[in-house]
Amino acid sequence: MIVCSCNVIRAEQIRDAARRGADEVEAAYALLGCRVQCGGCEDHAEAILTSERTCHRLAFAPRAA
Ligand code: FES
Repeated sequence: MIVCSCNVIRAEQIRDAARRGADEVEAAYALLGCRVQCGGCEDHAEAILTSERTCHRLAFAPRAA
């Protein structure tokens, strides 16, 4: 699914950027070699980043003994 039509960025690319440490949209797009242009995708991209960070945190959280 294309999230950013200006840069033709798919949701999976944004998830991958989050797993590589991007904590905001601008950082994610920079990892992908582009930058925010019109800004129309920022809310959706941010939601994907937040979701991926939450999943990653839960997956790697220490388990209670
Ligand atoms: S749709 Fe992403 S910058 Fe325009």
